[in-house]
Amino acid sequence: MAILNVRTVPEPILRQKSKRVRAIDGSLQKLAADMIETMHAASGVGLAAPQVGVSRRVIVIGMPGEEDFALINPEVVRKSGERTVTEGCLSVPGYFGEIKRAQRVTVKGKDLSGKEIRIKADELLAQALEHEIDHLNGVLYIDYLESQDMLHKVAHEVTPL
Ligand code: NI
Repeated sequence: MAILNVRTVPEPILRQKSKRVRAIDGSLQKLAADMIETMHAASGVGLAAPQVGVSRRVIVIGMPGEEDFALINPEVVRKSGERTVTEGCLSVPGYFGEIKRAQRVTVKGKDLSGKEIRIKADELLAQALEHEIDHLNGVLYIDYLESQDMLHKVAHEVTPL
């Protein structure tokens, strides 16, 4: 495994729509393993492939106390409710902001063995799934700020996504 270089704004790859994965092969499994290692090295709880320079639809999630997992071609199929969250991103270092996210999301995708999975999530996991899937569409959380007053320099520890 290897720790990959995390891309930061304004690198153009962060604004591109990532391509769907057609084959889950050894190179994709290595990418996911490297992304998980990179996420932990950066103390993040989620990471999307474009953040490590790969424009493919792959995300990894590592919730505290839970098993890490990768999702291939993930999609939000349902969301409900709204809440205000404090959010940061490894690709926007040194800042955090307050934005609105769904309260609950249902996400579908494939795991690394190619099996279809469906996840119903709330709290931090819902936030992380929305955040990472946004990355695959070239969207960053800062796009949701209602005003620049809602973006702050990091004065305390915020878990980056
Ligand atoms: Ni992010």
